[in-house]
Amino acid sequence: MSSQLNVFLNGEFLPLADAKISVLDRGFLFADGVYEVIPAYAGKLFRLQQHLDRLNSSLAAIRMQPVMTDLQWSKILNKLLEPHAQSDQSVYVQVTRGAGVNRNHQLPEQYEPTMFAMCQPIVTDSLDTIANGISAITLDDIRWDWCHIKSVALLGNILLKQQACDQHCTEAILLRDGFATEGSASNVFIVNNKRLITPPKSHHLLPGITRDLVLELSMQAGIDCVEREISELELFSADEIWLTSSTKEIMPVIELNRQAVGKGQPGDVWQQVASHYSQFKEQLRLL
Ligand SMILES: Cc1ncc(COP(=O)(O)O)c(C=O)c1O
Repeated sequence: MSSQLNVFLNGEFLPLADAKISVLDRGFLFADGVYEVIPAYAGKLFRLQQHLDRLNSSLAAIRMQPVMTDLQWSKILNKLLEPHAQSDQSVYVQVTRGAGVNRNHQLPEQYEPTMFAMCQPIVTDSLDTIANGISAITLDDIRWDWCHIKSVALLGNILLKQQACDQHCTEAILLRDGFATEGSASNVFIVNNKRLITPPKSHHLLPGITRDLVLELSMQAGIDCVEREISELELFSADEIWLTSSTKEIMPVIELNRQAVGKGQPGDVWQQVASHYSQFKEQLRLL
């Protein structure tokens, strides 16, 4: 990323190279903070309200108040996007509990939050490659019990993702007590006999914004959708497996643990829902 690019830090827009925070920041010392990743198509933020609502739920879960109003966030993020009206961007937002006077585990009674935002391009080439289908592996979900919080403490997720990368796979599908929870950076869906199934929201998975939109669009398209647990056995015998996230959209998994999923190519239900998803995105571009 160019150091000339402007980022937002604590009320100021400044070049990336000038954006500095204290080494006593609790985000740095304890991963005491939360984040969001919001896609923007042709300068237009996608599902902004849902992302801001989730940001505020994550803040509440770590005992922080909202740090700004939705309107203030919207103005800031739109200003960051101004130079990028022609391209698709991923907007990163991070809020931490700020810097204390020393390193102390206990939550400070008063704090000055650190608020940061930046954008970077969404690589559309990689989206085209993803549409051909990806490979995944299953791994034990070693993460903590509060995965519904979009916490910056991502060590569990990144080490799991790296195990997938080491095996030349794009994602890891995580299993907890014999049931699929989510991907290391995505939510999981399966299709069985034309029925779309995804695990219900719980403390074991992130309430994905793409997950909700995929359910919404699938229901509108008349697809039978169910939110319930997916057993390991069911995952391996699924006709289709998809993984969803804001920047990767709907990834069809065509190979799981080196075995073909269904016919070993993106399935019919994926084709249908991915096309509705693209149309939904294109409508936003035209607004
Ligand atoms: C662990 C995890 N689950 C699910 C998701 C998908 O969430 P969203 O669709 O809101 O991007 C992500 C996104 O990064 C994630 O990190």
